[in-house]
Amino acid sequence: MTERTIFNFNGKVALIEWFDVHRRLLPWRDHSNPYAIWLSEVILQQTRVEQGLPYWERFMSKYPSVEKLADAPFDEIMALWAGLGYYSRARNLHAAAKAVVALGGFPSTRDGLLDLPGVGPYTAAAISSMAFQEVVPALDGNALRVYTRYFAVAERIDQKRTLRHIEALCTPLLDSSRPGDSNQAIMDLGSRICTPTRPQCGECPLQHGCEAHRRGTMESFPVKPAKKPPQAETWTLYVPQSFGKFGLVRRPEKGIWSGLWCFPSTLPDEYVSIPGIRTQHLLSHRVLTLEFHEILENQPRSEDAWTWFTLEEVKNLGLPVPIRWWFEEKNYI
Ligand code: ADE
Ligand code: SF4
Repeated sequence: MTERTIFNFNGKVALIEWFDVHRRLLPWRDHSNPYAIWLSEVILQQTRVEQGLPYWERFMSKYPSVEKLADAPFDEIMALWAGLGYYSRARNLHAAAKAVVALGGFPSTRDGLLDLPGVGPYTAAAISSMAFQEVVPALDGNALRVYTRYFAVAERIDQKRTLRHIEALCTPLLDSSRPGDSNQAIMDLGSRICTPTRPQCGECPLQHGCEAHRRGTMESFPVKPAKKPPQAETWTLYVPQSFGKFGLVRRPEKGIWSGLWCFPSTLPDEYVSIPGIRTQHLLSHRVLTLEFHEILENQPRSEDAWTWFTLEEVKNLGLPVPIRWWFEEKNYI
């Protein structure tokens, strides 16, 4: 499919020329080595640029190569990662570094990169276009917003076929000798100009080709599925206490609160508990009611699955918000 041309408007040229003048100055943009680029993309997966930038710099100076990162002890990586959240992302970072070393270098295509832990379709396309000039669009939420507006795509973006359609439409907007820069131009547009509400079309290099702008319906794109009403759920959490220590369990690496320390949600028969305070906590699709049941104090620490912490130690643990709330509500921390 070819790009529409409106009054000789060439979106590909407009986009790359705008990038050359207005691009954000970000340190990984001066790098052509895939390691620096991969590291930036993994850090920025769930983190804003301003927050992620100092982390990227710390990682680059402590581990200047993928071999150094692969050889580092995981605890050291975790310590440098602290504050970025998502324990599983740090695990994937280390696992991917080891995989790259085992392969003898970074895969140089989107499909090859997809095999690395923690690298999904967006990240793979971003890396392959920036580091290896593969002409593939990097489609994250921001890019989808820009493209669905530009092409007035009326189909729901949660469907695979819509993504394939968008990919076919937008690939011709990428400069074939600098596809990574075209992708990053879209990222910059999406974060600063083509914003979810009140996009600044007057400053947009694509406005003369943009169908949503022509119709004045920018905010009706992208088309998302109707939101399901949040599900109400009640969880019971048990608070083990024994001689000044609290028993906690680490959440699994997948799912909510991954890698954080939480109270156990099951209780062996030999313990007696009484219902205590409760709180509500909002997740993306659920309203959780958490009921904290206190276990009678000073029982033997017989349950192997629990790890015991003093309050001093609890203060420095990664805790889910409502667990921290419980300790604060009780004036323990
Ligand atoms: N977000 C993720 N990757 C980015 C990049 N290369 N430039 C700007 N924002 C980004
Ligand atoms: Fe987004 Fe407006 Fe630019 Fe279209 S013209 S891409 S709606 S900012």
